[in-house]
Amino acid sequence: DGRSFILNTGARIPPIGLGTWQIEPDVVGDAIYAAVKAGYRHIDCAPAYHNQKQVGLALKKLFEDGVIEREDLFVTSKLWFGDHAPEDVPEAIDTTLKDLHLGFLDLFLKKGTTPSHENILPPDIPATWEAMEKLYDSGKARAIGVSSFSCKKIEDLLAIARVPPAVNQVECHLIWQQDKLQKLCHSRGVHLSAFSPLGSPGSSLPGVSGAIVLSNPIVISVAEKLQKTPAQVALRWCLQMGQSVLPKSTNEARIKENFDIFEWSIPEDLMAKFSEIKQARLMKGEFAVHPLSVYKTLEDLWDGEI
Ligand code: A2P
Repeated sequence: DGRSFILNTGARIPPIGLGTWQIEPDVVGDAIYAAVKAGYRHIDCAPAYHNQKQVGLALKKLFEDGVIEREDLFVTSKLWFGDHAPEDVPEAIDTTLKDLHLGFLDLFLKKGTTPSHENILPPDIPATWEAMEKLYDSGKARAIGVSSFSCKKIEDLLAIARVPPAVNQVECHLIWQQDKLQKLCHSRGVHLSAFSPLGSPGSSLPGVSGAIVLSNPIVISVAEKLQKTPAQVALRWCLQMGQSVLPKSTNEARIKENFDIFEWSIPEDLMAKFSEIKQARLMKGEFAVHPLSVYKTLEDLWDGEI
């Protein structure tokens, strides 16, 4: 029905997934249950979100209750910092699969930015990627990809990869539109997935303050014209850019609101208005920058894309 994007593996990725970062473990299960009931077919998680076991219990219950079958759900998880040594990669996915009560992941992502104390030596991305490729060969990960990769890092990886990354999951929203990265990924067959598509309005990270995307005057005016909410406009923009979106919510009404982005579209003339929005990366990753790290400045960390 056109409600999916096709990955370079030939598999389909649903256009909208529930993000689970910063969801408390005691409520993540209800959020997932509500999302799947509302029609979401993609759940995005990570061991570092400290709720993956609870995500697993929710998935188990959904399958047992017959709400959905495993093959109809797309589950993404991530290889976190600290597990990037090639010998640690197989165990990392096994732990994640055990936590999630799954036999395979639809997508396993190598996380990009790492905290400064882990970056005294330059990361050996090719070595980690080779270990990821073996997971793809084994079928434990039906697709492999990366997260928070700059244009330079994607190009470097594409140059050496036997199995090219299927996805680059990055911060992407109307205030950080990732124009250059979007074009590069599109031309190289790497699907772009947008995290924090609402600009993480509830987040307490440095530099992320308030509803900067949802309160943007251009976003509000487009929403008013279309009689949609600013959140729906922000999410619909991603879809029209060819990106899948991963909004996070624990509120059932907002979970449903965020899914109601298919029966309408933003016309060209209103899409054009968004190019007037001043751009700023919200998730800057200050935690990764340190005088002793290989990333001494934010410019180093993002290869100038800041
Ligand atoms: P809540 O969980 O109470 O709904 P992002 O996905 O960009 O990281 O944003 C997640 C944040 O946005 C959460 O704080 C979430 O709060 C809030 N949020 C999710 N959906 C909506 C919406 N439709 N309107 C306003 N805020 C939303």
